[in-house]
Amino acid sequence: MALTGKNIVIAVCGSIAAYKIAVLIRLLVKAGAHIKVIMSEEATAFITPLTLSTLSKNPVLVDYYQENTGEWNNHVEIALNADYILIAPATANTIAKMAAGLCDNLLMAVYLSAKCPVFFAPAMDLDMWKHPSTQSNVDRLRSYGNMMIPPEKGELASGLIGEGRLAEPDEIMDFLAHYSDAELPLYGKKALVSAGPTHEAIDPVRFIGNHSSGKMGYAIAKQLKELGADVTLVSGPSALQPPAQVELVRVTSAAEMLQACEEYFDRSSIIVMSAAVADYTPAEVATQKIKKKEAEFSISLKKTTDILATLGAKKRADQLLIGFALETNNELENAKDKLIRKNLDFIVLNSMQDKGAGFATDTNKVTIINREGNINEFTLKSKDDVAKDICSIIVQQHSSH
Ligand code: CTP
Repeated sequence: MALTGKNIVIAVCGSIAAYKIAVLIRLLVKAGAHIKVIMSEEATAFITPLTLSTLSKNPVLVDYYQENTGEWNNHVEIALNADYILIAPATANTIAKMAAGLCDNLLMAVYLSAKCPVFFAPAMDLDMWKHPSTQSNVDRLRSYGNMMIPPEKGELASGLIGEGRLAEPDEIMDFLAHYSDAELPLYGKKALVSAGPTHEAIDPVRFIGNHSSGKMGYAIAKQLKELGADVTLVSGPSALQPPAQVELVRVTSAAEMLQACEEYFDRSSIIVMSAAVADYTPAEVATQKIKKKEAEFSISLKKTTDILATLGAKKRADQLLIGFALETNNELENAKDKLIRKNLDFIVLNSMQDKGAGFATDTNKVTIINREGNINEFTLKSKDDVAKDICSIIVQQHSSH
């Protein structure tokens, strides 16, 4: 979730809608955000600082001075530490003060000191909302770059029905989450990742396979998702749970993996092929279980299609294609050769000579080589951290692509 770890200052003004902020804080804390609440003096008449400090797990600030401790609340520090400032409910009075740049309380001083994105969610009676002065103040606030979370139509505290109700807590939360997603470096990009082994059937009960667990590919899919991409993970047989909000396409054989990857290739701008695809598959699959007879037995194998090379041959200029190489000798030469032969943007080399690298481990040690021949050697790390290194190169290359 994009709001995890975000420092959000919520500035609460004097409106009956202030009660909704308790629910909003609960939702944001659950989503992993760090909440600091400041309130105008008037807001404390509608909901207590104790309620909001308990929910936000932080002291609530109302004035420049903490009477009990004699401490000064540094408005500049509060504003500069915030990733987002949300003024909710934003009353007609506070909106007017924000538009005019007045600074008569801590809340306004924090607002005026802010360098981060500022959101405001108006709440007032319908005629106050419609009034030309309120509307022109709102226009001014938006022209300063502040973002409005629009009020809703419905029954108001006065009993009248119209526009002016504070947006519901889940809508305010969605608004912030959407904004936060859009700030991610790969937001809106489509990514395709292959992972795991393939199983090539010999007969109805046997197959040729390998020891790949899928861990590296699954970690890359998770990381790309966290960077905002829309991820499809084409996975061979693996015991792993797919990362949250990643589309999982399960396949068994190399032929099925090829078909699935080709299907998603055109729409993808980031393609990472980390699957350990079988290079050979039985030339014929027996329809019945093969019975043991002779002392020796052999199976005729034929080459599978190289998925990575097939995609490389039709790669467009707007697509980034990343492959893996697992080598036991002449590692750099072999990897460079694969990079060129398969038309990749960069290749991730695993050497079987490195302890803790390769299949079925939780760690990996990789070297990344790009088309310009730059070689980036990484230390032994968890596969999650290796995925972060790979994805940070993807972000760099994608922005310069
Ligand atoms: N790969 C693929 N399709 C195949 C075989 C491999 O897409 N049929 C991809 C893997 O996902 C990986 C890369 O190719 O990204 C390298 O795989 P590897 O087996 O190391 O290389 P090969 O090209 O098969 O070469 P060799 O067997 O000679 O090492």
